[in-house]
Amino acid sequence: MSSLLPGSNKLDPNSDIPDLSGKHYIVTGGSAGIGFGIAAHLLQHKAENVTILSNKEEHANSALEELKEYGDASKAHWVKCDLEDLKFTDRVADELAKSQDGLDGLILNAGLGVGVYNETRDKLDSHFQVNHLSQFILLAKLLPRLQRTPGARIVFESSELHRAAPSDTKFKDEAEINTDIGPTKLYNRTKLAQILIARALQRRKEAGELGFKPDQKIFINAVHPGGVATDQPLQAEEAYGKVGVIGHKLVRPFMKDPVSEGCRPALYAATSPEIEEKGISGQYIVPDKKVTSPSSQAQDDELGEALWKLSEDLIKSRVG
Ligand SMILES: NC(=O)c1ccc[n+]([C@@H]2O[C@H](COP(=O)([O-])OP(=O)(O)OC[C@H]3O[C@@H](n4cnc5c(N)ncnc54)[C@H](OP(=O)(O)O)[C@@H]3O)[C@@H](O)[C@H]2O)c1
Repeated sequence: MSSLLPGSNKLDPNSDIPDLSGKHYIVTGGSAGIGFGIAAHLLQHKAENVTILSNKEEHANSALEELKEYGDASKAHWVKCDLEDLKFTDRVADELAKSQDGLDGLILNAGLGVGVYNETRDKLDSHFQVNHLSQFILLAKLLPRLQRTPGARIVFESSELHRAAPSDTKFKDEAEINTDIGPTKLYNRTKLAQILIARALQRRKEAGELGFKPDQKIFINAVHPGGVATDQPLQAEEAYGKVGVIGHKLVRPFMKDPVSEGCRPALYAATSPEIEEKGISGQYIVPDKKVTSPSSQAQDDELGEALWKLSEDLIKSRVG
């Protein structure tokens, strides 16, 4: 039975997603875990085009094979995009931006989990770059396609762990980003960044900046998927050794399946007519459909503006 009943907080991805015929989506990290779940349901509901952006070819190939179980897999496409490489990501963004097709949904889901500090080829903390900065490039370049598609959705796959980001985060400069603050805080800081950027983009929409027209029907939200059984928690095992392995073994049985459950909040934000009916934008959504307040740090608009500026500066210094 459909769960779009008044008051229900459940979204059944099989029955509650509308017919998506003719619609175009881009899902970062659609090759595995939650992103795969999102791509599968978009396809199942007849989306015209589901473009998956990810890095590892073997993951992409098995995802494309598995997607045949859900719908017309000829509508799913893989584009290699290494988010640890800003220039590469920028070229991919330029290519995708050239398309004359509308873009009904950009789902920024790719991410590194809790893991040890590492620097990318751009000499930046890999968590910050993969989870936020590279996807900020995609967002900036794809915005015109989204803006010319009525009802378009932008979804940031954040996490409740944003609430445990370091309290002294300022997003002041590169040195702050490239300080090893430990596996969990590195991750949590990026999940905070996603909500700050969703809200900063919403402010620009409301102010009619960045090409937004007054009353433009475009819906920007951050979501938390719940605790989901994907490869991501395995990264915490690597970061925390035996303690990580034991911790993961204990919680794994209680984690959600990415295809039947973990994908729901993002699919709600990306496809549900309720989002437009209720004008839900600039919000934070937790399983499945509950709009709730993010941390006060995530509601700090000055911090969001500092992050926006730092992101632009870092991109300028690396990409030009
Ligand atoms: N799992 C959870 O419990 C949980 C909880 C809260 C929030 N989240 C968030 O949900 C999102 C998805 O997580 P998940 O659990 O589904 O993770 P996952 O199974 O590990 O999948 C991660 C996805 O990100 C892609 N990715 C990683 N590094 C990349 C890179 N350098 N370039 C391009 N793509 C890259 C991967 O593609 P490749 O295979 O090509 O590397 C893969 O498709 C993340 O943003 C995560 O923070 C997850």
